Amino acid sequence: KDIPFEFNGMHCCKAHGGLELPVLPGGAAPFGNFPDYSRFHPPEGRVRLLPAALLSELFPNPRAGPLLGLDVGCNSGELSIALYRHLIGLQESKVSLEHSMAGKDLNLLCCDIDAGLIERAKQRSPFPGSISYAALDIMDSSVREALLGCYLSKFGRSTFDICFCMSVTMWIHLNHGDSGLVKLLSYLASKCIYLLIEPQPWKCYRAAARRLRKLGRHDFDHFRSLTISGNMAEKITQILTEDGAMELVCCFGSTSWDRSMLLFKSKAAHTSTLDCFEISRGVEKSVVAFYL
Ligand SMILES: C[S@@+](CC[C@H](N)C(=O)[O-])C[C@H]1O[C@@H](n2cnc3c(N)ncnc32)[C@H](O)[C@@H]1O
Repeated sequence: KDIPFEFNGMHCCKAHGGLELPVLPGGAAPFGNFPDYSRFHPPEGRVRLLPAALLSELFPNPRAGPLLGLDVGCNSGELSIALYRHLIGLQESKVSLEHSMAGKDLNLLCCDIDAGLIERAKQRSPFPGSISYAALDIMDSSVREALLGCYLSKFGRSTFDICFCMSVTMWIHLNHGDSGLVKLLSYLASKCIYLLIEPQPWKCYRAAARRLRKLGRHDFDHFRSLTISGNMAEKITQILTEDGAMELVCCFGSTSWDRSMLLFKSKAAHTSTLDCFEISRGVEKSVVAFYL
């Protein structure tokens, strides 16, 4: 159903793509909408792999407005907040930008298909002025256009500077098949300059299907027929780069639970690729490999 949509008190448009999703017994969640996801995969395990000066390296030139980020599949917002703090150089104990090291002004729009998780994220957010939340099924193209377009237009922009898609691709792939995964990636590629993506490895697909099967559900039985399979980081890299839309700039290591974070850049953007080589030089262990 449609509800009035607001960003930071500003009435914007009517858009609502999120759902009230039930939690299944044993913590199974067909959309990856786990209520306590950050307890199992703590944000620190990801953000510590990212250079603190990442935004300054990617966007060295001063801007009139803030940098704009989109976090797709933000769950209840713990990783979004950790990313925000890390990228603007704000220590854990601080809630103001006074002592920010990076000096970058960043505004985030965080969305999730689960309206209940978004409500929790809103209630807990320490940065309501800079981080907005919206219930949105990112695969719903009409609602997505209305909502993201509305947010961007508030800043006179048509694309985001950076998109985060962290541990979300498997859920889109399982629920929307090969074509859904390709559509999501090509949409994100068209909507940002940089895309940071943390794909789930194939073994997680098996585990997700098994969890639901144990509950007598067969939602993901079709996962064996997916033709995009195997090394998912490599497959996602191929999809994003093969039509020339994006290039892989670096791989920020791997988390203790075996997921890598891949940074892509839109080829339509004008920022120099050399920027990313600079990033890797300034970081000790964060950048362990250039991928492919
Ligand atoms: C495993 S959690 C990852 C949460 C967070 N990004 C992180 O890495 O900590 C995956 C999230 O993607 C969301 N999600 C799944 N399908 C989605 C869709 N079609 N549109 C928006 N969010 C979706 C789920 O509700 C869930 O919160």
